[in-house]
Amino acid sequence: MNWDDTTDADSAEERLVGSVADREDQAVEAALRPKDLGEFIGQEKVREQLDLVLRAARARGATADHVLLSGAPGLGKTTLSMIIAAEMGAPIRITSGPAIQHAGDLAAILSSLQEGEVLFLDEIHRMSRPAEEMLYMAMEDFRVDVIVGKGPGATAIPLELPPFTLVGATTRAGLLPPPLRDRFGFTAHMEFYEPAELQRVIHRSAHLLDVEIDTAGAAEIAGRSRGTPRIANRLLRRVRDYAQVKADGVITRDIAEAALAVYEVDARGLDRLDRAVLEALLKLFGGGPVGLSTLAVAVGEERETVEEVAEPFLVREGLLARTPRGRVATPAAWAHLGLTPPRTAAGGSAQQDLFGT
Ligand SMILES: Nc1ncnc2c1ncn2[C@@H]1O[C@H](COP(=O)(O)OP(=O)(O)OP(=O)(O)O)[C@@H](O)[C@H]1O
Ligand SMILES: [Mg+2]
Repeated sequence: MNWDDTTDADSAEERLVGSVADREDQAVEAALRPKDLGEFIGQEKVREQLDLVLRAARARGATADHVLLSGAPGLGKTTLSMIIAAEMGAPIRITSGPAIQHAGDLAAILSSLQEGEVLFLDEIHRMSRPAEEMLYMAMEDFRVDVIVGKGPGATAIPLELPPFTLVGATTRAGLLPPPLRDRFGFTAHMEFYEPAELQRVIHRSAHLLDVEIDTAGAAEIAGRSRGTPRIANRLLRRVRDYAQVKADGVITRDIAEAALAVYEVDARGLDRLDRAVLEALLKLFGGGPVGLSTLAVAVGEERETVEEVAEPFLVREGLLARTPRGRVATPAAWAHLGLTPPRTAAGGSAQQDLFGT
């Protein structure tokens, strides 16, 4: 095994199946974004609930309640925020937690909002504490206190705000302080998508990109997209490249399979890093348990890369477990890589012992 080919640390941004959008993505994403609730695929429950919230607000001629969108990267939070504004016929202002360093930054944004405007606050869990506290009052009373001056002479000048709708997005709902979470009238938790839904996403995107694709081709890409529309769209574009260069441009199952083999995305959506981690765990450490740091050294990656980039998907797929004694491969991991678990002295496999199967 040549571990060298895994050492040119592909960052999360560069990975084909990673969840973070790169620049090319952002441009194409804008073009592929569904524009209204009717076009938004999947997330039936969220769509139904949000539809009620928005319809009722429209019927009352009121501004919609604040909405919190939580869910993994690439599931459609930014898309939904834009849909909320479009459905309300309201303008949208986009900013993010990390962009708001001081409470003053937030005050400036809030005080310049138009009546009914949607304020989209991405990564809301990364806002500074003072800004967060200012937001509490703004959300509840549509008012902020602007502090003028410093020290004992400082005075708070109350400022009335027009009614607005805050749409907060977070990948880590658990990190939000309860007082903030409680001020949202509606919280939508976005789930990973079913393969059939991703297939619809792929057909829709292919149509918009003017790419010909058959049902089996779309199904093949959908099955490797990790339940994530952003990844589905990205894989579609890479398969389109392959189809153009190596074939007649039409995406079939064979073309999708051949293309994704080139990009090292396997049948379950694992990429090179994911497979390197699993292979090290199985081949070097007999399936574990092994410590995270040791595992990271074995694949020539940073600890954080293994923990934050590769593991969440491996855990979700039931291929790897994080135990108090270290990382352990599940029986499904051995099966996925086509390997046989070693036998223990007791006759069963080490993993059978650990999983009690
Ligand atoms: N339900 C959907 N139907 C069709 N396309 C979708 C859907 N959800 C997301 N997409 C597509 O996936 C891409 C990523 O979605 P979006 O940018 O909204 O994700 P996000 O949740 O905001 O991700 P992040 O947490 O990284 O900001 C968009 O370009 C959009 O075209
Ligand atoms: Mg987003």
